[in-house]
Amino acid sequence: MGFVNLLTMAKRFSGIIAILLLLRLTTAAASHEFCDAGMGYNVVGCGGSDSSSRRILIKGGTVVNAHHQEVADVYIDDGIIADVKPNIKVGDEVAVIDATGKFVMPGGIDPHTHLEMEFMGTDSTETIDDFFSGQAAALAGGTTMHIDFVMPVNGSLSLGFKAYVEKAKKSCMDYGFHMTITKWDDTVAREMEIMVKEKGINSFKFFLAYKGIVMINDELLLEGLKKCKSLGALAMVHAENGDAVFEGQKRMIELGITGPEGHALSRPPLLEAEATARAIRLAGFINTPLYIVHVMSIDAMEEIAKARKLGQRVVGEPVVSGLVLNDSGLWDPDFNIAAKFVMSPPIRAPGHGRALQAAVSMGVLQGFHVVPENTGKSAFGKLVGTDHCTFNSTQKAFGIDDFRKIPNGVNGIEERMHLVWDTMVASGKISVTDYVRITSTECARIFNIYPKKGAILPGSDADIIILNPNSSFQISSNSHHSRSDTNVYEGWIGKGKVEITIVGGRIVWENNELKVNLGSGKYIKMPPFNYLFDGIEKADVSYISSLRAPVNRFKAMQ
Ligand code: URP
Ligand code: ZN
Ligand code: ZN
Repeated sequence: MGFVNLLTMAKRFSGIIAILLLLRLTTAAASHEFCDAGMGYNVVGCGGSDSSSRRILIKGGTVVNAHHQEVADVYIDDGIIADVKPNIKVGDEVAVIDATGKFVMPGGIDPHTHLEMEFMGTDSTETIDDFFSGQAAALAGGTTMHIDFVMPVNGSLSLGFKAYVEKAKKSCMDYGFHMTITKWDDTVAREMEIMVKEKGINSFKFFLAYKGIVMINDELLLEGLKKCKSLGALAMVHAENGDAVFEGQKRMIELGITGPEGHALSRPPLLEAEATARAIRLAGFINTPLYIVHVMSIDAMEEIAKARKLGQRVVGEPVVSGLVLNDSGLWDPDFNIAAKFVMSPPIRAPGHGRALQAAVSMGVLQGFHVVPENTGKSAFGKLVGTDHCTFNSTQKAFGIDDFRKIPNGVNGIEERMHLVWDTMVASGKISVTDYVRITSTECARIFNIYPKKGAILPGSDADIIILNPNSSFQISSNSHHSRSDTNVYEGWIGKGKVEITIVGGRIVWENNELKVNLGSGKYIKMPPFNYLFDGIEKADVSYISSLRAPVNRFKAMQ
């Protein structure tokens, strides 16, 4: 690593003390292939030190679960939460954290990320954050697990899975996989079964957009929905009408609109609503649960709300960019600024975000009347993802003359926990228990890993954050931990700061310093048949019995 690089790093990570930079020098000399990852912080396994205790007592904080909050201590032993109750007594060998006046909550789980993903055939084809930098950024922001989308290799699920297992070897936090389906044949159908029964994947994503790249047609969607249902896997859709988007893009180019604003103009909410409604109806026809990723518009949200009111098992996933941003950035005269906001479906005009926030707080998009453990009460579940899919300004500039070539995607894995707190909790829109449900618990429930994840309960994994509601945070590409040189939330200052992140029982974020454990992240297998499948076969039986009996026709006598 050159001296100039070191200086740049020192500037970028000004909050990190010099000794860590020295450790980073040791790191660069280490032989591990991931150690030269260009990040300015302590990497255990690369010559960095691992001073974290395996036994930790978090004392006196307000422990928050989705169903309950209380002032209590949390005792962590060997990566697992051993006890949660007031006044736990421990010996001197246990590290004690005073959390008085702070919230002790399950680490965030991000249901939607794209790390080290090849996408849209840009010059630099891969997202700039890989499983190392993306996860390090996540940990600095209080997210301790994410679920990433595996892209098949030439349509092959098993090759795609293998490639992602390799990519994820540098993980420093736990992760799971969704699988993307881009073509259909008997092999894909068989491989879906292997993915669910052997590889721990319980969700498959279908793109209704990106024509000519990953878009599938309704026939494939129907096959996929049937297969998902038989496997107890959750079908997920990117809902935009790809043919109409293609038409909209041509229209913009013909009008001479080639800049980033053409992206939003070419794919209006109408096209998101159409695909959302179509996917919902087809899932209803097959009678299988459906998860709509990145709901960005009121129009799509209303389709989901309508279906849910009629009792259909549909989950809508808002993402933080859709909740807190609006499309004004796309009209910025500086291409680099405008291009960083390009994602699909597009970030919408002012008004959509506020409506989506209201939908989240009311449980319009997710959650069913369920009985959470230990409460006996019914509740609505809710969740928010990021769709973290970062390209730096050099990669975005691939579309400088044609918005269709700007790689789609924005950051968020590091910012989600803070932004949801600031916009939803600090503003009084939701309670702290709802915050936990939205950022962690509901994702764990939908992807069937609760209460191992998403809870502070004895036996749960010790993935924990300590948030100080009286502290503030500030977002900048100069201080964030993503490898991107831009940040769509640049300059945001807000209330509530994740001061400590504990992952797998180790403190990895404290005093604005990261100490990540290279290769310590584990792949979390996610079993099929989540709660959305409960009783689905009964609905099938009543559908069959609702069919009018076939007419018995006698063949005419010869
Ligand atoms: O623009 C986006 N959303 N990029 C990531 C890929 C996807 O559609 O989820
Ligand atoms: Zn998508
Ligand atoms: Zn995505």
